[in-house]
Amino acid sequence: MERTFLAIKPDGVQRGLVGEIISRFETKGFTLVGLKLLNVSRELAEAHYDVHRERPFFPGLVEFITSGPVVAMVWEGDGVIAAARKMIGATNPLNAEPGTIRGDLGINIGRNIIHGSDAPETAQKEVSLWFKDEELVSWQPQMTPWLHE
Ligand code: RTP
Ligand code: MG
Repeated sequence: MERTFLAIKPDGVQRGLVGEIISRFETKGFTLVGLKLLNVSRELAEAHYDVHRERPFFPGLVEFITSGPVVAMVWEGDGVIAAARKMIGATNPLNAEPGTIRGDLGINIGRNIIHGSDAPETAQKEVSLWFKDEELVSWQPQMTPWLHE
């Protein structure tokens, strides 16, 4: 079953948006299989954003992600990687459609509330970067027959 890595960034946690955000993925019908609140180390932040290492915003991004608690999550479901990216919306919240998390809740690219894996390979890499195998819980929600034909 497909899995993706999502993280509520320090701005989302500080603004009290954790419940609102988890609720969106839960009510959509995806399954939560990993969840933790943590202060992100510089090492983890740099590894997570390694593709952006040469970009001018990299130092500020690492500074920001390590500035306060982050809620790290793994969600499971058919098509969850692409669907979560749609639900999150465009990188710049001012360009994100209403109805998306960034479109509804944010106004600034450097404070865009949530991260979501952008493809199957990055999802796999990020899930194993942030979670140990034993921290992930495989379970079958009882409502599955009410969500799938
Ligand atoms: P994310 O990785 O956080 O889910 O966001 P994304 O795919 O929509 O955007 P990405 O291009 O991967 O950029 C990663 C994060 O870097 C910050 N950023 N700042 N100041 C800037 O021009 C700029 N560009 C990107 C954002 O926090 C973005 O989410
Ligand atoms: Mg990205």
